[in-house]
Amino acid sequence: MAKFRLFGRKTDEISDRELVNRRLARRVAAEGMVLLKNDGVLPLQSKRIALFGAGARMTVKGGTGSGNMQERYSVSIEEGMKNAGFEIASTRWLDRFDASYEEEKEAWRLGIEERIKHYKPWQVQRMFDEVIHVTPLRFPVGDEICPEDLPEDTDTAIYAVARQAGESTDRRLEKGDYYLSDVEENNLRVLAAKYDKVLLVINSGGILDLSILDRISGIGAVLYFVQGGEEGGNAFADLISGSVTPSGRLTDTWAMKYEDYPYAGEFGALGDVLQQDYREGIYVGYRWFDVNKIEPRWPFGYGLSYADFDIEEQGTGLCGSTVSVRVCVRNVSRDYSGKEVVQLYIAKPDGKLLKERKALAAFWKTGLLAPDGQETGTLEFDLRDCASYDEESACRILEAGEYGIYIGSDSRNNTLCAVLLLDRTIVVEKLTNILPVPHPIGTFVPDRAAAEYPREVPRLTVDAEAFVLKEAGYEAPKPVMKTQQTGDYIKSLSDRELVELCVGPGYSGLGYNVTPTAVGRTSISLLKRGIPNINFSDGPAGLNLCPKNAYTKSGIPNYVDEVPKDWQWGWIRKIEPFVLAKPGRGYRVYQYMTCFPAVTLQAQTWNPALIEEVGKAIGTEMTETGVTLWLAPGMNIHRNPLCGRNFEYYSEDPFLSGTMAAAVTRGVQSHKGLGVTIKHFCCNNQEDKRETVSENVPERTLREIYLRGFEIAVREAKPRAVMTSYNMVNGVHTFASRDLCVKVLRSEWGYDGLVMTDWTASEKNPGEHTACILSGNDLIMPGHPKAKKELQDALKSGRLKRADLETAAANVLNVIFSSNVWEI
Ligand code: BGC
Repeated sequence: MAKFRLFGRKTDEISDRELVNRRLARRVAAEGMVLLKNDGVLPLQSKRIALFGAGARMTVKGGTGSGNMQERYSVSIEEGMKNAGFEIASTRWLDRFDASYEEEKEAWRLGIEERIKHYKPWQVQRMFDEVIHVTPLRFPVGDEICPEDLPEDTDTAIYAVARQAGESTDRRLEKGDYYLSDVEENNLRVLAAKYDKVLLVINSGGILDLSILDRISGIGAVLYFVQGGEEGGNAFADLISGSVTPSGRLTDTWAMKYEDYPYAGEFGALGDVLQQDYREGIYVGYRWFDVNKIEPRWPFGYGLSYADFDIEEQGTGLCGSTVSVRVCVRNVSRDYSGKEVVQLYIAKPDGKLLKERKALAAFWKTGLLAPDGQETGTLEFDLRDCASYDEESACRILEAGEYGIYIGSDSRNNTLCAVLLLDRTIVVEKLTNILPVPHPIGTFVPDRAAAEYPREVPRLTVDAEAFVLKEAGYEAPKPVMKTQQTGDYIKSLSDRELVELCVGPGYSGLGYNVTPTAVGRTSISLLKRGIPNINFSDGPAGLNLCPKNAYTKSGIPNYVDEVPKDWQWGWIRKIEPFVLAKPGRGYRVYQYMTCFPAVTLQAQTWNPALIEEVGKAIGTEMTETGVTLWLAPGMNIHRNPLCGRNFEYYSEDPFLSGTMAAAVTRGVQSHKGLGVTIKHFCCNNQEDKRETVSENVPERTLREIYLRGFEIAVREAKPRAVMTSYNMVNGVHTFASRDLCVKVLRSEWGYDGLVMTDWTASEKNPGEHTACILSGNDLIMPGHPKAKKELQDALKSGRLKRADLETAAANVLNVIFSSNVWEI
């Protein structure tokens, strides 16, 4: 038996796999960018363009932290435009910006280096937690445009505003972050006064204040580029040249002003950073704007096309609990092909519980329709899934009354097409209450809605008998033996060995399966017992692995071949002498992973089939690099636009989030032995003080909004792993919450996979490792000898039983023994 097995490629030549996935990244990027405004600017007529803005040359491809990527190269907006034959009329401003970018980057790096001076190389994790992660990378904005910067020989200007954010810190409600800086605002004024056609590009992982559009009239077009991954620049050029028609739609509501978001002044550090009361209840995103009749700048689901579409409803049917609406979409434009997204919203009747005005229940994206072309499709959903949670009876109920079914092109622009009549309240599911709020939080109560539906709209009567009552059993979990080996081993492993399985091995030491720079793996000390380790890599924009690595002949990582150039990696210089390979010695291992667009952009495609392809593509990269579990998708709800990790998450809407997460899961898991890790379960909606904040969420809200997406992903696609979060929910850390990890996840949703902690989450307070295992969290990551010691002591003292460890260890073994790398 070999001592170790090294994955990755032995050459750094571009592989066919890279080329194939790169093409997919471009398609996704082009399909997910959203055209927000277009007064005759796009597609561009001119080929000569005045180009400005921080994102033009230093285009931000994605966010920072674990969600970062280390791709071979990324195409900037400027490069993409040049590749497509555009001429940049003047680069004076851009050249100047380069210089200031380098200066600011250097200042940032020096600042970091100063602060990490006292850390030892093996304290990398602490260094990350205490300095690197929490030192905001404020993306430079450049200086003011001067008259000499403005080329005369064009009528078209593009200005790309750029922002970057990432884990451990939230965005700031300040100029240069949520607000445009004075420089940006002035520059846009200058361009708007000078050029006939001005396109504003938003190169940011999250929402910005765009009230500038109310103050300046000359900005004719706005494109939400998000962060486009390695092919962002080429995709951008595809859109502005007209070779691709925009078909992305917003997955969040863009407010006129920040204060329009629910309890906006109380979010994160603006309020009580350690106690976040979800006072808006279920009224998150468009649900809030609708119920309070607040006019958004752009509503949820919104996006323009170059083409125009006509959506015709051709009949609504009801079969048991399944509602289906047939629609025909016709491209009524003369010049452009395009795709339309049809969205179905349901309005539930107010009763004992007050409801949102409308909720997304289904959607469908057409194929590419040529001018005059048409396509017919069916939007379908199960009425059961629209039930509301009644805390008093601990039941999910569909209340008696009239249910409006709306079809349209966004959350505001839709038409009633049928009304469902339910003559009595149905209890759909009997559950049990979980996680009480720690104090009364004064939840918002909207006005009661008195929906009166016009007589001529077709009525369909719901047959209450078609609903079978579901009732969750809450037995204590037992070991699940999914493979023969799991059963055999669970019986024969010693207590110490079980503990080894439930705690990751940390960062050092050599495992059997070696994926260079994998951020996590399972135990490396059970090889002699015939149990190899499996490896985990971050996401969610792809696999976050170091591209160039070196190993000694005996398999000791020499780490990297060169220090990455990306500015957020400046810290690595600190450990340079320890991580740089000696030239020419040992093995070289190359892992050039595809940087797909930020997850918000992916969701903006509203195309689950395309996102499933992304999952398949990532699966090919996992196979190449020996990764078994991908630590993605991130699927927390965009509760507020300032959350630093929103770019890693899909949407403010749980149905859309769950559907997209299920799609990427299906894609990855279509490869035998691979798995996703949906994260962060749950309510990791704030980054400042993420490990100590208590997200105080009324149960109905928790179930209908924050758990709903996870539930969809689990039920529809069976992810192989779930990662709990850092934060507390209602005063309890999620990794130590039996309510979440056992009652909800396993008993109610029937989940039988692996649950792991977020990195070092349970290392902060004594007793928390034990609480993890007792609460149904199987694997403590990345793992530390202290965690093993604590579990062993707990066994001795009787706080932990062998049976508890067997249950957890079985979930780890199931993944190992059915993994892509299972062989010794
Ligand atoms: C992040 C996780 C990530 C883990 C491993 C944590 O800081 O919150 O999303 O998967 O690190 O890198």
